[in-house]
Amino acid sequence: MVCFRLSSVPGLGLVLFCLVLGVVRSYALELNLTDSGKATCLYAKWHMNFTIQYETTNKTYKTVTISDLDTVTYNGSMCGDDQNGPKIAVQFGSGISWMVNFTMVSSSSSYSIDSISFSYNTSNRTMFPDAEDKGIVTVYDHLAIKVPLNVIFRCNSLLTLENNNVVQRYWDVLVQAFVQNGTVSTEEHLCDQDKTSTTVTPIIHTTVPSPTAKPTPVEKPEIGKYSVNNTNGTCLLATMRLQLNITQDKVSSVFNIKPNSTDFTGSCDPHTALLRLNSSTIKYLDFVFAVKNENRFYLKEVNVSMYLVNGSVFSTVNDNLSYWDAPLGSSYMCNKEQTISVSGAFQINTFDLRVQPFNVTKGKYSTAEECSADSDLNFLIPVAVGVALGFLIIVVFISYMIGRRKSRTGYQSV
Ligand SMILES: *[C@@H]1O[C@H](CO)[C@@H](O)[C@H](O)[C@H]1NC(C)=O
Ligand SMILES: *[C@@H]1O[C@H](CO)[C@@H](O)[C@H](O)[C@H]1NC(C)=O
Ligand SMILES: *[C@@H]1O[C@H](CO)[C@@H](O)[C@H](O)[C@H]1NC(C)=O
Ligand SMILES: *[C@@H]1O[C@H](CO)[C@@H](O)[C@H](O)[C@H]1NC(C)=O
Ligand SMILES: *[C@@H]1O[C@H](CO)[C@@H](O)[C@H](O)[C@H]1NC(C)=O
Ligand SMILES: *[C@@H]1O[C@H](CO)[C@@H](O)[C@H](O)[C@H]1NC(C)=O
Ligand SMILES: *[C@@H]1O[C@H](CO)[C@@H](O)[C@H](O)[C@H]1NC(C)=O
Ligand SMILES: *[C@@H]1O[C@H](CO)[C@@H](O)[C@H](O)[C@H]1NC(C)=O
Ligand SMILES: *[C@@H]1O[C@H](CO)[C@@H](O)[C@H](O)[C@H]1NC(C)=O
Ligand SMILES: *[C@@H]1O[C@H](CO)[C@@H](O)[C@H](O)[C@H]1NC(C)=O
Ligand SMILES: *[C@@H]1O[C@H](CO)[C@@H](O)[C@H](O)[C@H]1NC(C)=O
Ligand SMILES: *[C@@H]1O[C@H](CO)[C@@H](O)[C@H](O)[C@H]1NC(C)=O
Repeated sequence: MVCFRLSSVPGLGLVLFCLVLGVVRSYALELNLTDSGKATCLYAKWHMNFTIQYETTNKTYKTVTISDLDTVTYNGSMCGDDQNGPKIAVQFGSGISWMVNFTMVSSSSSYSIDSISFSYNTSNRTMFPDAEDKGIVTVYDHLAIKVPLNVIFRCNSLLTLENNNVVQRYWDVLVQAFVQNGTVSTEEHLCDQDKTSTTVTPIIHTTVPSPTAKPTPVEKPEIGKYSVNNTNGTCLLATMRLQLNITQDKVSSVFNIKPNSTDFTGSCDPHTALLRLNSSTIKYLDFVFAVKNENRFYLKEVNVSMYLVNGSVFSTVNDNLSYWDAPLGSSYMCNKEQTISVSGAFQINTFDLRVQPFNVTKGKYSTAEECSADSDLNFLIPVAVGVALGFLIIVVFISYMIGRRKSRTGYQSV
């Protein structure tokens, strides 16, 4: 952990910012920028690398790749004030600088990740051998990625910007500008690439130990109530007990999801909806729903990445599933235990399940289509009720007879 303490920056007072370099091989950049009151105003953690193609003295081209940015300074980063928006400025290598700025979108509760500028100095013969001297070269990209206020932007997918012989790559991005009350949000806004992609490459962060992976708990998992909102209110509802079963080297570890310590986010589009759970041990567990034939929905994809007790990361994805199938405009219900086989090594057991990923109105479930396992049960219910009623009649009749006999004997004794 490296901390920089800057002397006073105009309009900001004392700025303290720390950068925590990730594990040695991944080199995540991390910036936790605080304002004069030591409250976090901007938080970012991300990976990036660059490939630069430059002209040599004999009119041919060479390329150089800049990665593993390990000696980084963040001078010039700021929270933003009345005149200037927030920005992250990064310096590394020799004379290379990178900057991103954020602007408020007026008339909506969101802001935009505005633009990125990247500069390098081809005069350095060590870094750019045989370069035809151009001095400082700057490339500028306008991004205009809109992000709602008070949620953290996440993009695990690879974003590539190609511009003037420079390729910029970004991945595993987490950023929140205009942080309010010094609290970085736990609610995520996913980039479009993450929402639709099945190619999210899970990158191993610091290995977080897992305290929860207990061997085979027998108890039923607790019930979790999950929902996703969009601008029109609640757009996805799910109520379920979830149990995960990971089998590695013929040993399966089963554990229950604890709703109390699990966060959830998601997104809703007309033809696809996402519910993402995460916790200290689950990096993400995504349920992706799709529409088929314009009239039914189903669970199409499960994408999971988890930290295991031994410190390793377990990831798997299957985007060719077909579970929880029900008509659009209704919900799907299954009280009995169901098993979703995501892969040979990963299963999810569900109990007391009800989901509605589309057409939720007024935050409530629509009528339910029940799974066949439940309907078998339902068929038995009238029978059970009939038997119980018959039994009740007999009990009432017997008590009546006994009562009558007692009162008669009582009457006789007077
Ligand atoms: C950022 O720094 C502040 C103050 O040093 C600290 O309270 C906060 O937990 C940090 N946030 C993150 C996400 O590291
Ligand atoms: C740059 O990043 C991309 C995407 O993560 C990766 O495929 C590539 O190997 C990286 N290049 C270097 C030199 O690290
Ligand atoms: C240009 O220079 C590079 C080395 O800097 C050399 O490998 C290449 O052959 C040269 N090309 C020409 C056309 O001279
Ligand atoms: C960044 O700030 C540190 C501390 O104030 C200073 O030592 C360093 O020279 C600065 N680096 C650049 C590139 O301005
Ligand atoms: C050129 O870059 C190399 C490597 O980044 C660095 O060690 C060296 O100091 C730089 N030279 C000049 C003149 O800036
Ligand atoms: C920063 O944002 C402003 C818009 O407020 C834009 O005009 C400017 O070009 C941006 N600068 C950089 C370096 O991204
Ligand atoms: C670019 O690098 C050269 C050599 O390292 C240095 O002399 C020159 O001042 C740098 N240019 C700028 C604008 O920093
Ligand atoms: C920040 O604090 C104020 C007052 O304490 C509160 O009204 C507001 O909702 C808080 N904002 C967030 C994003 O927590
Ligand atoms: C919100 O509702 C309006 C009117 O029903 C509809 O036109 C709009 O597309 C909805 N927006 C979203 C994000 O679902
Ligand atoms: C979603 O919207 C409903 C009202 O439509 C609100 O009660 C609920 O708190 C919201 N949930 C989240 C997570 O914002
Ligand atoms: C876990 O998965 C393994 C392998 O598929 C299976 O044999 C075992 O019965 C499962 N356990 C539970 C509790 O679902
Ligand atoms: C979960 O949290 C709620 C409210 O914080 C609490 O009432 C409930 O007892 C907790 N459940 C368990 C099993 O810890």
